[in-house]
Amino acid sequence: MAVTQEAPAEPILYVNGEFLPLSAARVSPLDQGFLLGDGIFDVVSAWRGKIFKLEEHLDRFFDSIRAARLETRLSKDAWASAILETVRRNSLGDASIRFILTRGVPEGVVADPREITPTEIVWVAPYVFLADEAKRARGIRLMISATRGFTPDTLDPRFKCLDRLHSQLIRLEALEAGYDDALWLDNQGYVAEAAASNVFLVKKGTLYTPQTGILRGITRATVIDCAARAEIPCCEAPVTSFDLYSADEVFTCSTAGGALPVREVAGRAIPGPVPGPICQRIDQVYWEMRDGGEFATVI
Ligand SMILES: Cc1ncc(COP(=O)(O)O)c(C=O)c1O
Repeated sequence: MAVTQEAPAEPILYVNGEFLPLSAARVSPLDQGFLLGDGIFDVVSAWRGKIFKLEEHLDRFFDSIRAARLETRLSKDAWASAILETVRRNSLGDASIRFILTRGVPEGVVADPREITPTEIVWVAPYVFLADEAKRARGIRLMISATRGFTPDTLDPRFKCLDRLHSQLIRLEALEAGYDDALWLDNQGYVAEAAASNVFLVKKGTLYTPQTGILRGITRATVIDCAARAEIPCCEAPVTSFDLYSADEVFTCSTAGGALPVREVAGRAIPGPVPGPICQRIDQVYWEMRDGGEFATVI
């Protein structure tokens, strides 16, 4: 891949068929994505020149496109090509790659949402970890937010939609209370997920993770696979805050860094070493999978 090439002076974005430097890239202030959060996105990452699970991310993206009744001019293969070409033009081997589709720019104020030309964007940045090195080593502190998650009969959490106000509010709540991140519960009080990651706990050698009320994280699915490979039992099951308070280990996971250990949940310290042995083992299998080129699209 072209990582050895000189990096461009500024990031290059793909916007509606063109590759443009950031300062020249434009989206209309009338875009429905901006005005209404009417759009969807996904984030995939590259590590050492290989994009991980691009197909899975594109499948999830296209599921959201269909469910949100959005239109795209690009096929799945064309999105993959646009993504690859944007990464190449940015000369990044370790990258966080965001691809975005909005309903686009309407003709008038009251527009028929079926008659709008979509906006398609790919933005590539250097690889992002959800937490800095010290927190990855020592674990993060999680609070349990007072804000509840969406239910499937309102805005199904499986939509990876642009409207992230909900996540921003719980992040603000966490940061202002001195925590690193927060989990939300569903409307019945079961644990759902964190602002931008899924959650796992370990009890007596078994992994547990919520099954419903969540974004179907690609990393979550990978962790379940890693657990199977490492012969660690893993259950998708209803989880309550009690389960977290009494867990042997807790960790979150996302594309932004894989497994992230948790050292405290709502004021209760996790007993024992953090990261715990199962979190460490999962992390090891995860990075072996990536370094070994499994599920890889070479840039
Ligand atoms: C609400 C939410 N849950 C979970 C995740 C983790 O998903 P993935 O592993 O696909 O990055 C994200 C990622 O942004 C998210 O926003």
